[in-house]
Amino acid sequence: MAEDLHITIGTKSEQYEALIPQIKGLIEGEPDLIANLANITGALKTQFNWLWAGFYIVKGNELVLGPFQGPVACTRIRKGQGVCGTSWAQSATLIVPDVENFPGHIACSSLSRSEIVVPAFKNNEVIAVLDADSKQPATFDTTDQFYLEQITRLIVW
Ligand code: SME
Repeated sequence: MAEDLHITIGTKSEQYEALIPQIKGLIEGEPDLIANLANITGALKTQFNWLWAGFYIVKGNELVLGPFQGPVACTRIRKGQGVCGTSWAQSATLIVPDVENFPGHIACSSLSRSEIVVPAFKNNEVIAVLDADSKQPATFDTTDQFYLEQITRLIVW
């Protein structure tokens, strides 16, 4: 397993293309879910320097905070609540260019201006969501969606 992350400079796609093999190297052969989720958030935060990157894990009728990098965050989110709970309810990736325009957005950090939430599936059920927050507006687009969805599919739940 690689323990050093090689930071890539380039287009967003180039950054993801270099990062994803490294994430594979970090998690393959490691059966512990928390360890793998933790390293994925570390890799994303280190490469992209977002405000926050982390997982919320489905537990009953709530999302519960999982491994993350960034400021402390709210611990429980109900289905349909906020961007994360809406992504879960809709089983869909949500790109939010301006969090102030998303009704019900949960402001864990007042510094967050834009956000993407990507559901992760097991047996066609949402089992967790990957959430990323940025201090800048409109940070996330369909390129992030494309690659972050790939990353969620790498995880063995
Ligand atoms: N903004 C999210 C809450 C999680 S934090 O951003 C880490 C939401 O509206 O669901």
